[in-house]
Amino acid sequence: MRPHDHTLIRDIDVFDHTYLPEYFNHRDAQLRELAYLIDPALQGGSPGSAILRGPPGTGKTTAVRRVFAEIEKISRNESARELVPVYVNCRQSHTLIAVYRCIATRLLGYMPPSRYLEDIRDGIAARLQEKDANLIVCLDDADYLIAAGTYNTLLYQLLRLYERWEDLRGAGIFAVTNDLRLNLYAEADCAVRSVFYPTEITFSPYTTAEIREILGDRVRQGLYPGVVPAGVLDLVAKVTADIRDIRTGIDLVRAATTRAGAEGRRRVTRRDVLDVVSGVKSPVLAARTAALTSGERALLYRLAEQSLSGDDAMMAGTVFEEVQEYLAVGKTTYHARLRRLADAGIIDLLWTRRGHEVFLRYPPGEIFSACARAGDRAPAGMG
Ligand SMILES: Nc1ncnc2c1ncn2[C@@H]1O[C@H](COP(=O)(O)OP(=O)(O)O)[C@@H](O)[C@H]1O
Ligand SMILES: [Mg+2]
Repeated sequence: MRPHDHTLIRDIDVFDHTYLPEYFNHRDAQLRELAYLIDPALQGGSPGSAILRGPPGTGKTTAVRRVFAEIEKISRNESARELVPVYVNCRQSHTLIAVYRCIATRLLGYMPPSRYLEDIRDGIAARLQEKDANLIVCLDDADYLIAAGTYNTLLYQLLRLYERWEDLRGAGIFAVTNDLRLNLYAEADCAVRSVFYPTEITFSPYTTAEIREILGDRVRQGLYPGVVPAGVLDLVAKVTADIRDIRTGIDLVRAATTRAGAEGRRRVTRRDVLDVVSGVKSPVLAARTAALTSGERALLYRLAEQSLSGDDAMMAGTVFEEVQEYLAVGKTTYHARLRRLADAGIIDLLWTRRGHEVFLRYPPGEIFSACARAGDRAPAGMG
């Protein structure tokens, strides 16, 4: 008997965040743009570059991984000039040496033995020369390179490989970010920009219908038939659309199924979903809160307080008057922060006849504890 026979799960890996899905719909336009940048390199020219931007869970990493897998397939075909795609997770690798190690490991098939950056770079160049290959590098979550101060150096060196090694071509760069405030092109300095002409590729949030379809595919692949009835899937899609991150939906399906299985049932119910929602949502809120500036968090904290203090609708203008003495910011900054909280998926701003109305997406109690965990127990209001 297989270990999961007594559960409802056919293939648990399908619910892993790094699982490469069999079906990848709703991203045709983005895939086409990426293919368009790569085509010239497969004909012997230089690959183009791109900046991929969109909120978390919109398929950016998956799109790149699919395109890269496709390149690997085509590149093995003798007729095409070799193009070597390298995926770098900058959350894990953000120093120069770490990024070059990733590239070298992919090219050589083993971790380069040297501890010296120059040796590793020479090794990469030698290998590219030997294979007569072009390089394309995905810098996923490139925000981490900016924080580490390595973004410009890396881009400069990779885009201008030919400066040091005449017979090499510049690499193509796919720089990816979840942070909608960050302009990865503007972050590049003049020297980089003179050779960096990225196509901007936008990944917008999925609609509820798209989410339902994506989760439906996952359910069919990962669970036994009939385990998640259509109505329950509708509910999961609705909750996921509210949180605006498809990962939450995948986690919800898995958690709700585990719960049903633990109680010996063959079918997931709406109750299962509702019972696991807060457990799945709270890490999302924690991550979003931690990514805010302390000033944005201070405002969030006050909004949660305000929401408890009255039964009336929370109007942005009224709240501004009431939090003035704590936050000591002008109207422009206040509205910019509100907008950021909305972009981060923590609040909703709805335009009504009376002005902007603020809605919290999470219960105030959860917001207080997320703010506390992020380090602002008693928000000072500045920052
Ligand atoms: N169009 C899609 N079809 C199927 N699965 C998807 C799709 N878009 C995203 N996913 C899944 O959602 C999760 C998050 O996607 P990911 O590419 O990591 O998003 P991002 O890099 O934008 O944060 C992954 O598990 C991925 O398989
Ligand atoms: Mg990603």
